Amino acid sequence: MKNRRIVLASRPTGIPTPENFTLVEADIPELEDGQVLLENQVFAIDPAVRGMLDDVKSYMPPVQIGGLIPTMVLGRVIKSRNPAFKEGDYGRGFIGWEEYSVLNPTSVAFENVKIDPTIPLTAYMGALGWSGITAYVGLLDTGAMKAGDVVVVSAAAGAVGSVAGQVAKLRGCRVVGIVGSDEKAEMITKELGMDAAVNYKTAPDLEAAIKAACPDGIDLYFDNVGGKTLDTILPLMNDFGRIPVCGMIANYNHQTEPYLLRNIWQVLVHRITMRGFLAYEAVDMLHEAEDQLAAWFKSGELIATENVSTGLESTPAAFIRLMAGETSGKTLVRLNDRITTLG
Ligand SMILES: NC(=O)c1ccc[n+]([C@@H]2O[C@H](COP(=O)([O-])OP(=O)(O)OC[C@H]3O[C@@H](n4cnc5c(N)ncnc54)[C@H](OP(=O)(O)O)[C@@H]3O)[C@@H](O)[C@H]2O)c1
Repeated sequence: MKNRRIVLASRPTGIPTPENFTLVEADIPELEDGQVLLENQVFAIDPAVRGMLDDVKSYMPPVQIGGLIPTMVLGRVIKSRNPAFKEGDYGRGFIGWEEYSVLNPTSVAFENVKIDPTIPLTAYMGALGWSGITAYVGLLDTGAMKAGDVVVVSAAAGAVGSVAGQVAKLRGCRVVGIVGSDEKAEMITKELGMDAAVNYKTAPDLEAAIKAACPDGIDLYFDNVGGKTLDTILPLMNDFGRIPVCGMIANYNHQTEPYLLRNIWQVLVHRITMRGFLAYEAVDMLHEAEDQLAAWFKSGELIATENVSTGLESTPAAFIRLMAGETSGKTLVRLNDRITTLG
């Protein structure tokens, strides 16, 4: 049995292109004690991977030319040398764009996922997976969110943002989402129940537009994008406001020339707590987040949104669309068309 995998052919400049990726075949290694072999079912496509394609130091090592493109996978266990996994279970972990993966206990976010057969498999890689968990721990742990807060979420129609906005509403906050199109603005207010939306691409004066949507200031800014949006929001924060820093996608396509913040002084002026977080490090809240998100989903209070393409070969194009800002909801690849989606 051969494995098909997608590796880095060349480093992207700006938004990635198909030429940056190539499909290769490889042998599937024999398992060692503790390891599990997965037949992958779904890939979660994540913007942070763009940063790993540049040869720069970050919280994850850069991918080398010829190296497997990293991603969170959900796969069916087809062989196990780990007593916590049996054939037919579902394993999840941060591995890569390949048909078969060897899951190690040392893999980031290594987990035996308990699947509810009434829930489509793809949901476990979006709103009920790491995107949802990221939203939940970013708001409630890092952001110390409380009922009554005015919460602003950027990339609010995206995988993490769409859940963050809904979780904040479910916990009694007023929520304003910042998005890059009128369609996304309509989706987050009409379908997802956020209170207001600001289109940062068309607002003639972004600061005035956010101020109008938040007349009482901002208590919590869930930052997915960094850049100009963060800079604009800093002076609008209330005293003792919190900014959980989830990501800074506005810089990912050109990390060597990031947007320079002019208003960072406002952190002192408003005594803001601004802290980065990696969701998979919030181990104490992981099971609470998974259980609560699944319960809200089953009761219909949380709407999971996704865009799914099919087949290993479709993965680079899905990633390129994500990094061009063209997607809404969680961007996913299912490895074959028998895998259930939210439809
Ligand atoms: N800390 C953690 O543990 C953790 C975990 C998962 C994800 N993240 C971070 O969370 C953020 C959102 O990730 P996601 O998976 O939910 O992605 P996503 O929001 O589904 O997709 C990215 C969206 O970002 C927006 N965007 C803003 N500036 C952009 C730019 N310059 N280029 C491309 N897109 C831009 C686009 O929406 P608009 O059209 O609205 O601009 C785009 O659709 C990312 O920064 C990611 O790195 C962090």
